[in-house]
Amino acid sequence: MSAIDFKDRVAIVTGAGGGLGRTYALELAARGAAVVVNDLGGRFDGSGSSHNMADQVVEEIRAAGGKAAANYDSVGTRAGGESIVQTALDNFGRIDIVINNAGHLRNAPFEDIDDEILDSLIDVHLKGAIYVTQPAYKVMKRQGYGRIVFASSAAGAFGNPQQAAYAAAKAGLLGVMHVLSLEGKEHGVLCNALLPVANSRMEAAMDPTQLQAFTAQYASFGDKLGTSYLPEFVTPLVVYLASETCTSTHAIYSAALGRYARAFIGVADGWTGPRDTPVTADELARHFQQIADVGQFSIPESLADEFSIIQRNIG
Ligand code: NAI
Repeated sequence: MSAIDFKDRVAIVTGAGGGLGRTYALELAARGAAVVVNDLGGRFDGSGSSHNMADQVVEEIRAAGGKAAANYDSVGTRAGGESIVQTALDNFGRIDIVINNAGHLRNAPFEDIDDEILDSLIDVHLKGAIYVTQPAYKVMKRQGYGRIVFASSAAGAFGNPQQAAYAAAKAGLLGVMHVLSLEGKEHGVLCNALLPVANSRMEAAMDPTQLQAFTAQYASFGDKLGTSYLPEFVTPLVVYLASETCTSTHAIYSAALGRYARAFIGVADGWTGPRDTPVTADELARHFQQIADVGQFSIPESLADEFSIIQRNIG
């Protein structure tokens, strides 16, 4: 198998000025992609802005002989999304890859989540990914080629205390990915979602108890942890998903501590009730163990596919 390369490919990486996004941008550029390095350049909680972060990564890429252009807009507005896409078109003339990575973190117990926290997380993570991807998708559809990665989170897929607003936005991205992958497939546009884990400045959003628990979990790996918490351990999966080699679409992949694995939403075979009379709650209660059992399951490829699965199970 020849090495994955991105010759003549153009990538947009949002939030590429630091953390995970920076490593994605550097590796895509090192493998030949022209990269739009988008970053608002603010703090971990979404406050502030500056040009420094994006500029530094662009300099790094150019110093290594690669092609890059900076963009400083927030992904969190429609105008920002359009401007990011326009930066790619103005500088490089096409768009093959979008890595929706930009984001910030504001943790709070559920009862303390106010509109300011809720709106800021939904605007940047969920609406922001849509604002960038929508204009880029139009270009990809015309080209008949595209690769889109949505940075979701284990918090959204599996849950994590104090992150209800963040998790809502990140789980929302799974929904966007499920639908866009169905719409994009016939146009050669493949979409996948990522559940990354890496040490980053986002730790600053954790309260001391959370941070302690997190650190203890890392420590429990002992010498098996190695340096697997570094962003560079997530990057290969993103680079693969962004490549022409990748034929996966409509899937969620976890890259956590050097372990790479598909995550999925499945439906158990369950229990099928009578066909002509609705089951009573009492009868359902009697079958609840079978309903909740995940020993046999399917992964529906769409809403319609779930119907087919039910039909198959009825026999
Ligand atoms: P980070 O804070 O180091 O990087 C995020 C980048 O996005 C920063 O450079 C920031 O300036 C930029 N950014 C923030 N708001 C922006 C906006 N409105 N427009 C443009 N740029 C903006 O964090 P990290 O850890 O690298 O996170 C990257 C992505 O991965 C985020 O979406 C995060 O939610 C997600 N993620 C990270 C995990 C981790 O373990 N580090 C776990 C699960 C998800």
